Amino acid sequence: MYTPARPTVPDSRLHVVAEQSRFAGSRGWPPRTALVTGASSGIGREAALLLGEMNCKVLLVGRNGVALDEVAASTSGHRIAVDLSVPGAEATVASRSEDLLGDLDLLVCAAGLGSASPFDQLSHEALAELVAVNVLSPMALVRAVLPAMLERGHGRILLVGSVAGALGVRGEVAYSATKAALVGFANALRSEVAGRGVTVTLCFPGVVDTAFFRRRGAPYVRRWPRLQPARLVAERMLLATGRGQAEIWVPRWLSFAARVHGVTPTLYRRLAGIFG
Ligand SMILES: NC(=O)c1ccc[n+]([C@@H]2O[C@H](COP(=O)([O-])OP(=O)(O)OC[C@H]3O[C@@H](n4cnc5c(N)ncnc54)[C@H](OP(=O)(O)O)[C@@H]3O)[C@@H](O)[C@H]2O)c1
Repeated sequence: MYTPARPTVPDSRLHVVAEQSRFAGSRGWPPRTALVTGASSGIGREAALLLGEMNCKVLLVGRNGVALDEVAASTSGHRIAVDLSVPGAEATVASRSEDLLGDLDLLVCAAGLGSASPFDQLSHEALAELVAVNVLSPMALVRAVLPAMLERGHGRILLVGSVAGALGVRGEVAYSATKAALVGFANALRSEVAGRGVTVTLCFPGVVDTAFFRRRGAPYVRRWPRLQPARLVAERMLLATGRGQAEIWVPRWLSFAARVHGVTPTLYRRLAGIFG
């Protein structure tokens, strides 16, 4: 099993748990119930552990049953081992969630996979899997849980995107496109549900110290930007969700790169050409 390096920043977990009380007045926060995909590893796993510490009842979703059991033991959560690339998986997950958790306060879509193959060498199967897990599965899960959230007049949706989706990263063409799809999805959905008690938060992590790189078949070899601890990303994105923020960038300075990209794409392309 992948063991991430110890965080290089102070553990602010207690801060996160404590800060939840500041938003306790807002309906549905801190969450009493949460469904977390990608809970067996990396960012989703850390988010599930944090939610467990907030006494939130969590349904953990992933494929690796052993890893899910380990997280379930630490969170007193339930788990369901399911391949989210299989059509209809979201219906199974949503129905288990209703049975085990009842009303759902929070949906965290963290499951995802990368791809580092040059686009002209990517197989159709690999492309289809990327789209299924990174785009279709979060959209289908949101569609499955949203009607009940809207009916109750509260709910939180947290999507894990990537800076690659905002900027487009060479060597990760298909992956960037799947994460860009989440930007459009989150923006449109947020606008559609505005004023109805449901918030949509999109997290833009940079590079995070998880099994992601090994799994995509290409290790992260650059010295900069530095790898962020998965726990830090989980803490920041949950805080942002509690506040009802639309976006959260980890680290924060990455939003500057996106602003340069938006305001002056030509300059951005020149800089990206120099710095990669
Ligand atoms: N690490 C980074 O640098 C980075 C940067 C930006 C964005 N992100 C995004 O962050 C999210 C979490 O990634 P991570 O870094 O935490 O990677 P990770 O440690 O590899 O975790 C990926 C998670 O997704 C689950 N998953 C993948 N394919 C699945 C499938 N077909 N069905 C069900 N579950 C599936 C995995 O479950 P199993 O292990 O049980 O298969 C695992 O729990 C992803 O959406 C990724 O795109 C990561």
